[in-house]
Parts: sequence; structure tokens; C-alpha cells
Amino acid sequence: MKLLIDDANVQEIRRLCDLYPIDGVTTNPSILAKTGRDPKEVLTEIRGIIGPGKLLFAQAIPLDAEGMVRDARAIVKLLGEGTVVKVPSIPEGFKAIRMLREEGILSCGTVVYTPLQAYLAAKAGADYVAPYVNRIDNMGFDGVGVVEQIQDILTLHQLDTQVLAASFKNSQQVLTLCAYGIGSATCAPAVIDAFVKNPAIDGAVGDFIRDFAGLAGEGKTMADLLG
Ligand code: E4P
Repeated sequence: MKLLIDDANVQEIRRLCDLYPIDGVTTNPSILAKTGRDPKEVLTEIRGIIGPGKLLFAQAIPLDAEGMVRDARAIVKLLGEGTVVKVPSIPEGFKAIRMLREEGILSCGTVVYTPLQAYLAAKAGADYVAPYVNRIDNMGFDGVGVVEQIQDILTLHQLDTQVLAASFKNSQQVLTLCAYGIGSATCAPAVIDAFVKNPAIDGAVGDFIRDFAGLAGEGKTMADLLG
């Protein structure tokens, strides 16, 4: 499963890319708005941090297909290879996805709340579909179950589209879908950090440090001892 950062805070993106095996970054208009910065400047900086060719998702703003395609061309021109244009999974979006496919621009059907939205985006030729797990949970439905059903539909109908599950709020949601075999997940920095936030892990690591210090001396490492 590809793991992406669902954020546009460049300090956080730099920190997470340094520590974790990250495959890319996803943004949407609300995520960009949170930075309070010029979108062109932020997206260019993110591309610089993750490097050329890595996955970077940015969303088209217009609600008509022609406008979406115009935005998509501008996004790809700015951010280059590895850029995926997010398009809302609405009727004009399905039309835009077909047009983007013809132009060879990678697309993601986003704002997916139902399996049939994902089906239409995939059938139109989207490279990714992005269902919103936690937002679906908040509506009283089973977000993880909806994503599993989407994955089943894509497999059953041999649609060459990858699930990019989004809107996660906890590790359990990510774990269940990782075990189910979805292609990619995008998570906020706090959700990724929480994968390994566990007193048992910290306790075990602390024990190893204390035990070795007792044996070899405070602060000593293998490199110190083995030369
Ligand atoms: C991602 O592409 C979605 O826009 C995002 O994950 C939504 O997350 P939220 O429900 O936390 O806003």
C-alpha cells in the first residue's frame, strides 16, 4: 500500500518524509487554505521537498469539465511528472476525467462517498478514486466497509483504477484497509505518527538503552565499542 501525507504544511512534510517511507503528498483546496499561503508557492515547495516524479495530488477548482481540464493543465505544467489532478466525482468531473485520460494527464476522482461514484470515476478512466473514510463514518455509515466494497467493484470489473483512501482519523481505519489490500492511503501527519505511538514500544526501546548503558557505560554505542 502506498502511504501519502494528506497535508500542505511544508515543515510537517519535510519531517515526515525524513522519517517515514512516504510515497507522496495529497492536497485539496481546504488543506491549501489552512496554510494561508499562495498555492503556487506551497505546491512548488512541496514538489521540491518530495522530489521530481513522486506523487503529488492537487485539485482542480472549477465545476465545469472544460474549466477542470484547464486547471489540470496548469497544475501539471507547474508540478511536472508524478502529478495527479483531483477532480470531484460529479457528472462534470466524469467528463473531465475522460478528457484528461485522452490528454495523458493522471486524474483522481475525489469527494467519493458512495461506491457508485467510484465506479463511474473509474469507468471514466480515473487513475485513482478517493473515498472519504471518516466523513462516511460521521454520516452514520461504515467508511471502511464502503472502501472495501469499492475495492471489490474495481477488482470484479477489472477497472484499472487504484483506491486512494482518504479522510482517516485513526490507525484502526488504516490498518483494516491495509490488510484488505487497497492500493494507497493518504493520512494527516498526526494519524501517521499514531501508527507507532504506543507506550509498549517506547518502554521496550527505553529498556534496551538502559540495559546497554548498564553494560557498557552511559551514552556508549556499538560504534564506540566495536571501533
Ligand atoms: C483527501 O484527499 C481528502 O480531501 C481529505 O482526506 C479529507 O479529509 P478530512 O475529512 O479530514 O477533511
